[in-house]
Amino acid sequence: KSYQHMDLRHHVRDIPDYPKPGILFRDITPLLAHPDALNASVDEMAKPFLDQKIDVVAAAEARGFIFGTPLAMRLDAGFVPIRKPGKLPFDLHSFAYELEYGTDELQIHVDGIKPGQRVLIVDDLLATGGTVEACLRLLEKCDAEIVGCSFLIHLVALGGEARLSPYHVHSVLDYGGDDAEDE
Ligand code: PRP
Ligand code: MG
Repeated sequence: KSYQHMDLRHHVRDIPDYPKPGILFRDITPLLAHPDALNASVDEMAKPFLDQKIDVVAAAEARGFIFGTPLAMRLDAGFVPIRKPGKLPFDLHSFAYELEYGTDELQIHVDGIKPGQRVLIVDDLLATGGTVEACLRLLEKCDAEIVGCSFLIHLVALGGEARLSPYHVHSVLDYGGDDAEDE
């Protein structure tokens, strides 16, 4: 099956002023509900990494899990969850990071990734980069070989890509430009 000519953008719904006035929310639930769009999204997110010998896909809850597991299966890799505090039962690495108001924290099992394993990080959306930057720091604590990061959507104007330097960032749909954009 080929999805070459499918415009995935048609399946992303714009919601103005959500969750706050001035924010344009890119709602992927129509895309997730559409079988061909979902399949094409996973294909496009995996494409640059098909021959990269990925051992493990890592992704942060919640929306990262939606794409992380099918990408792992597409790449013949395992899947390792990165979770909010209080969810993982074994020994942990933790990383706390700043939000607009307050802080948040993500955790990974210390043995989730063995030193030197080749890891791809996956998330639905790159906005400020805070979430995936935290994932990178956790994977560095595991001595992972980080191959790159793959996103469905990149909100280019928010500058998150710089925070993920020097790692390879791949995105399927880039939204740039003038309108006030955020997650
Ligand atoms: C959303 C989205 C990304 C993150 C992107 O997650 O799923 O993980 O924001 O924003 P950033 O680049 O500024 O970090 P959110 O924290 O809203 O939680 P969810 O995945 O549990 O819905
Ligand atoms: Mg998220």
